[in-house]
Amino acid sequence: MSQKPLNIVILAAGKGTRMNSQGSNEQPKVMHELAGLPMINWLLKTAEQLSPEKIIVVTGPDMPELEAAAKPHTTVIQPERNGTAGAVRAALPLLEDFTGDVLVLLGDTPLIKQETLTSLIEAKGNGGLSVLGCVMDNPSGYGRLIAEKNVLKKIVEDKDASAKEKEVKLVNTGAFCVDGARLSDWVNAIGNDNTQGEYYLTDLPEIAAKNRSEAFVSMTLDEAEVRGCNTLADLAALEATLQNRLRQSAMESGARLQDPGTVYFHHDTKIGQGVTIEPNVFFGRGADIADNVTIRAFCHIEETKISEHSEIGPFARLRRGAVLAENVKIGNFVEVKNSVMAQGSKANHLAYIGDSSVGENSNIGAGTITCNYNGFEKNKTKIGSNVFIGSNAALIAPVTIGDGAIVAAGSTITEDVPADSLSMGRSKAEVKEGWAATYRKLKLSKKKSA
Ligand code: UD1
Ligand code: CA
Repeated sequence: MSQKPLNIVILAAGKGTRMNSQGSNEQPKVMHELAGLPMINWLLKTAEQLSPEKIIVVTGPDMPELEAAAKPHTTVIQPERNGTAGAVRAALPLLEDFTGDVLVLLGDTPLIKQETLTSLIEAKGNGGLSVLGCVMDNPSGYGRLIAEKNVLKKIVEDKDASAKEKEVKLVNTGAFCVDGARLSDWVNAIGNDNTQGEYYLTDLPEIAAKNRSEAFVSMTLDEAEVRGCNTLADLAALEATLQNRLRQSAMESGARLQDPGTVYFHHDTKIGQGVTIEPNVFFGRGADIADNVTIRAFCHIEETKISEHSEIGPFARLRRGAVLAENVKIGNFVEVKNSVMAQGSKANHLAYIGDSSVGENSNIGAGTITCNYNGFEKNKTKIGSNVFIGSNAALIAPVTIGDGAIVAAGSTITEDVPADSLSMGRSKAEVKEGWAATYRKLKLSKKKSA
């Protein structure tokens, strides 16, 4: 690790026009989410691990959401989107008199690892500049590093590269480490005489050479960590890389993933030890899974807390405000929303439990619906302990079912049920003996005469 003080500048003023994802609500490119967290925040997390004096995020004008996401770090506005060197120039006033190392990172390359950046800083050492390179099978779109051994001569942008230069597979990942004492002179010397008429930060190696300073290349072998995000296809590739990391870390902390590639995590998913997750499970925001829980195939779980030894799915949907205590069982095609289910309670098949509380060891039969919405407001269903709700019951909220009560199958319950009583709210079936046989005979004789 470098002994010198460090400052980090993150370039994030681009709008991301190549993403074509704006529709009517324009958001800066780096606000696109990966596992539910904006790209910029992934990069900030890594940058923070390097313990810099300051992290400066360069934004464009009118990007309040980005300024908010970057907090508590400093943001500075690049008034005109005139290139990556223009972006660094916007940050220079905040780096005045700073003589340590300045790490420049691209906001759209958010998965770069801390150890890779540490090596980049070390590669610069007491020199003026180091650049992080990577050999890519398909380098198109990236700037190419024209280097001899590990000394960098120049960087050619894809759009400015000759046919021969385009064959070079060593690309510029966009991460630079620059001597703070020289940064401002060098950046101010960059012009815009190129195909795009932009101020390219990639002119730095040549400027350094002119100033008799060598630029070093530091390498990473992991193409996935330095893939930039210019298009929605890039965004999907970054998501895949990140999901693999999240799967890996879930397994390292003791979750058994039967088919890891089919399980999707949110950045904040909490998974305990001894958890088993079958294939095709999706975690949205705020899933908190305790030890020894089993999640069977095809479940969708968000803003839910599941306690130890509970078993969920297959095909369950748990959403906002579902809180399940120990040993709860939620079976196939059951949806739970904003409801607390106490220890040992069960809903094994085909039920909707919304805005409810279910007491200990109660059983919710197949087809039970808590009718929580009357078209205007949401109402609560309170189900006590040791309650048995028979199949296909409609519990019309607000309604309370007392401890130990039984609700008969097929009931529509509109009034509170006292403890230990039976409530049966269905019409009595009428039996007409012999009716079916007479009916069949009549139909068949009509068919024959037709
Ligand atoms: C850039 C590099 C290219 C490198 C690639 C790596 C330059 C000139 N090119 O190309 O060599 O291979 O990244 O992914 O540096 N930005 C600003 N202000 C600007 C322009 C860009 O803040 O005026 C920010 C963007 O928000 C983005 C980053 O800089 O986060 C990179 O810009 P982008 O336009 O994506 O550069 P590339 O064409 O990918
Ligand atoms: Ca880019």
